[in-house]
Amino acid sequence: MNPRLDQLHPYPFQKLRELFAGVTPNPERAPINLSIGEPRHPTPQFIKDALVAGLSGLSNYPITQGSDALRDSIAAWAERRYGVKLDPATEVLPVNGSREALFAFAQASVDSSRHGRRVIISPNPFYQIYEGAALLAGARPFFLNTLPENDFKMDWSRVPEDLWEQVNLVYVCSPGNPTGKVMSLADWKELFDLSDAHGFAIAADECYSEIYFPHPNPDETTNHSTKPASGQVAGNLPLAGEGANAESKAANGQPPLGALTASQQLGRGFKNLIVFNSLSKRSNVPGLRSGMVAGDAALMKAFLLYRTYHGSAMSPVVQAASIAAWNDEAHVIENRRQYAEKFAAVMPLLKDVLAFDAPDAAFYLWARVPGGDDTAFARGLYETQHVTVLPGSYLARDAGGVNPGKGFVRIALVDSLPACVEAAERIVRFVGASR
Ligand SMILES: Cc1ncc(COP(=O)(O)O)c(C=O)c1O
Repeated sequence: MNPRLDQLHPYPFQKLRELFAGVTPNPERAPINLSIGEPRHPTPQFIKDALVAGLSGLSNYPITQGSDALRDSIAAWAERRYGVKLDPATEVLPVNGSREALFAFAQASVDSSRHGRRVIISPNPFYQIYEGAALLAGARPFFLNTLPENDFKMDWSRVPEDLWEQVNLVYVCSPGNPTGKVMSLADWKELFDLSDAHGFAIAADECYSEIYFPHPNPDETTNHSTKPASGQVAGNLPLAGEGANAESKAANGQPPLGALTASQQLGRGFKNLIVFNSLSKRSNVPGLRSGMVAGDAALMKAFLLYRTYHGSAMSPVVQAASIAAWNDEAHVIENRRQYAEKFAAVMPLLKDVLAFDAPDAAFYLWARVPGGDDTAFARGLYETQHVTVLPGSYLARDAGGVNPGKGFVRIALVDSLPACVEAAERIVRFVGASR
């Protein structure tokens, strides 16, 4: 078998199972699992209906490019959401969830010839697919830590100057999993300038782009920020009402800036840019396996060729349901409202026991734990309170002498409002009892 398979790391949830091996969770408490980023709001009925209505599509082989109707509906959504006009024939492709596409793009893009570019830059902590995609494509991942001291930004000055010419691809995740950080126009400009100078492609993972919200009570989180009180940091995350950062619009309820919009605003077209988005979080259909990629027509052409051989055409039945989902916004607004309600209820409860900033977007709290031992915290919480959260160190690698996830836990507010509130109350009790 391919020896590169041996380089792959166990998935964070496998590590979590090992961490909990032999631990008996408190039988008096019902389990609450906030470790996995799986949306659990119900799938809207109209999407299920469209899936059923599309069943006749089972009798046809789909084409990899997807139907015109699907690409049109994705392009129309992108125009409404991002204010960009995409050519559905050359700049849009449906994919079977953004996960497979994020992985596949590295396989299609890495030049494995002798003098080819074989470095892929990834944020750290990260979505583990970026790392696996790089390793299986025969590339070397280079991790850039996203730390509170640097406002969770990727610090490009940490990339050695002579490495840039070997960089094939840069993954960015905005809104970020797990930090919730949204890239500003200035952040995008910095990255586009580097891409224009060094010729690498940018894979922009935006699968949380639709989960954003106003934070109703900014003062609740500022005193307990993960960031140092003073020093290098520009300031706390912009919070509702403060108008602290005009570029990052998410915090006052505006949609996060997307890479396509930024690229267009900066007058550079979509050169070397490919954006990944998904219906999973937006429309509560993680089991549908439906997403999209859009961007640079030259990259898309090569990617389509790769995908044709890879055999990743989307089922016509899924295409029918996807068209219905991309065409509707009302269910997305309701989805967002539910997440906003959960953040508004949970953040004030946790503010005295964990250090965190209100995220710009996405459905995670990225919180520093008292004592700094994220695995011990997750294990103790599971054992005494039957609440599962993910140790931050499982989402990151050692880089620059530190594991940037160490000391943090990722709390996914995916369960119902009462369950999230109950989990927060149990976390408060757990921290109180450990003091
Ligand atoms: C950052 C990030 N990217 C991509 C994905 C993949 O989502 P999907 O394949 O459902 O589109 C996830 C899923 O959790 C994620 O967290």
